[in-house]
Amino acid sequence: MTDPHLLAGMEHSEDAGVYKLRDDLAIIQTVDFFTPIVDDPYTFGQIAVTNALSDVYAMRGNPLTAMNIVCFPINKLDISILRDILRGGLDKMREAGVLLVGGHSVEDDETKYGLAVTGIAHPDQILLNRGARPGDRLVLTKALGTGIVSTAVKGGIATESLVNEAVRAMTTLNKSGAQALMETPDVHSCTDITGFGLLGHACEMIEDSQVGMEIHAGAVPFFSGLREIAELGVLPAGLHRNRRFRENRIEIDPGCPEWQVDILFDPQTAGGLFVAVAPAEAEKLLDKLHHVGLGEAAIIGSVTGERKGKITVRP
Ligand code: CO
Ligand code: CO
Repeated sequence: MTDPHLLAGMEHSEDAGVYKLRDDLAIIQTVDFFTPIVDDPYTFGQIAVTNALSDVYAMRGNPLTAMNIVCFPINKLDISILRDILRGGLDKMREAGVLLVGGHSVEDDETKYGLAVTGIAHPDQILLNRGARPGDRLVLTKALGTGIVSTAVKGGIATESLVNEAVRAMTTLNKSGAQALMETPDVHSCTDITGFGLLGHACEMIEDSQVGMEIHAGAVPFFSGLREIAELGVLPAGLHRNRRFRENRIEIDPGCPEWQVDILFDPQTAGGLFVAVAPAEAEKLLDKLHHVGLGEAAIIGSVTGERKGKITVRP
């Protein structure tokens, strides 16, 4: 039995839980935390918060309050590291206009940080990952590659400019992207690109639905210098898992080079929004996104009425 107040729960891989409090008000709840993916603690704190707030923005909600979730090896590492992580997180919450209202920390062998977030939205404003319609254009708001960059850093082959580009993307809030969606009519669905990669999250949007997707691989933005690293085969384990898990739902044109397909499966941290919007609004939305500083945003494909539940990738 489902509660009629529950607008989004656990059954469709939605980005967050949504519960209708009144006809004009719903609360959005999500939680996310993980281990450091960059060396600098302050930057890690910023990334963790950007990532944790993202699921609220993906539903076109406004995050209001958050609680810190902290694991830290207090006997092994200097407390100043933890302070820097929390300061990075707090600064990013301030930028987002989110209030920190509490938290919980435990001693652990491995550092982990993130947030439990509460947001609000008008129930009519909520975007689910389902709802794309045939003819819709698909818009991606950030370039891909954060997983491959992390792997390249561990392998000692990432250039400074590539790392900077990835950090800039991972610390860019999806707030301005969500704001652009609020000002755009006929946006039909949205999710944010995180651990399953672009194609994994694209699959979630059309699974068991009456639509399919066509992705134009050549139009998908990715960090400069990423191609060389992907061609070397320096790829995160999660990328291979994502690819194996979804391959049977995706038809890849043989004209797509292997490195390009790999990037489409790269697990992202604090990735961009992925949006299905009516064709008449797509260019206008893209203009708005470029205007608010999301210069990498691009139209990367369309929604089809054929090949339901499947994705076609062409060069
Ligand atoms: Co999400
Ligand atoms: Co999440």
